[in-house]
Amino acid sequence: MTRKIIIDTDPGIDDAMAIFLAFNAPQLDVLALTTTFGNVAVELATKNALILSEVAGVNVPVAQGVAVPLVAAPLPPPDFVHGSDGFGNINWPAPKGQADERSAAQMIVDLVHQYPNQVTIVALGPLGNLAKALALDPSIAELVDEVILMGGADKEPGNVSPVAEANIINDPHAADIVFTASWQVTMVGLDVTHRVMINDKFLDNIRQADTDKQCGEFLYQATQFYFNFYQQTFDIEGCYVHDASTIVYAIAPDIFTTTPGVVRVATEGVAIGQTIVATPGKHYAVNFWQDKPVTNVCVGVDSERLLSLIATTFNA
Ligand code: BDR
Ligand code: CA
Repeated sequence: MTRKIIIDTDPGIDDAMAIFLAFNAPQLDVLALTTTFGNVAVELATKNALILSEVAGVNVPVAQGVAVPLVAAPLPPPDFVHGSDGFGNINWPAPKGQADERSAAQMIVDLVHQYPNQVTIVALGPLGNLAKALALDPSIAELVDEVILMGGADKEPGNVSPVAEANIINDPHAADIVFTASWQVTMVGLDVTHRVMINDKFLDNIRQADTDKQCGEFLYQATQFYFNFYQQTFDIEGCYVHDASTIVYAIAPDIFTTTPGVVRVATEGVAIGQTIVATPGKHYAVNFWQDKPVTNVCVGVDSERLLSLIATTFNA
């Protein structure tokens, strides 16, 4: 049976890879793309989501979501990582299609009720749409199969501050709402995504294999900018596989090892955006973690299997 997923996204070069992977995976049925600010402003995220569905030749609804964080001050979009178009400045032609009239949060609520207990939300950006959907209809927490999110870090240092990962620091209040709601959350954070890397050759193989669509060519072109960022900033050849790792988790969770943890998010001060993971049931002198839901925290990954699943899904 295929797994029904909604992808909440801020495309984004690595979002593009994740979305193409999901479209290509026979194990998944992508019900909708919902967009958020993050790597780019939300209007551009929506345009980019439409471009990705058209490049892949997939007819899927796209709904626009939140433009700013719930409470925190917005951070500027990281155009030095993803380019000012979000796709490494490749200036891909504008999409022909249009977004759905509903908000992302409404689309999430509607689909969860249409398919009770069958929908997994895969979140690849800041978490405002999920927080808004919960506010719109708290009953969805009991009706969602699972929330799999790319974000946060347990033992691994952050990538925006020494402790904060980008998707969480972009809307820490929303992230804290998502981690403390009564749905099953799996956190695919930097502890695992920093263990998985791809390089130019990997994407060139996908490009060569993709003879009937333009996904491989698109990914190859867009990721050159991302590779340059990694080269110049970290002196690394290649890049980490952040967002696509969540899609792999949705297909084959046994590629990862997980540990139960109660996750709270620091919403102010120097630690803003930090995901603080407590051992379930352990008594602390302060009660921020007490009686809160337990998250599945990814702590290990079989990188070779993960990369091979991506390659085979793209027929490479
Ligand atoms: C996350 O931040 C964004 O830049 C990427 O798209 C990914 O979702 C990695 O920290
Ligand atoms: Ca993303």
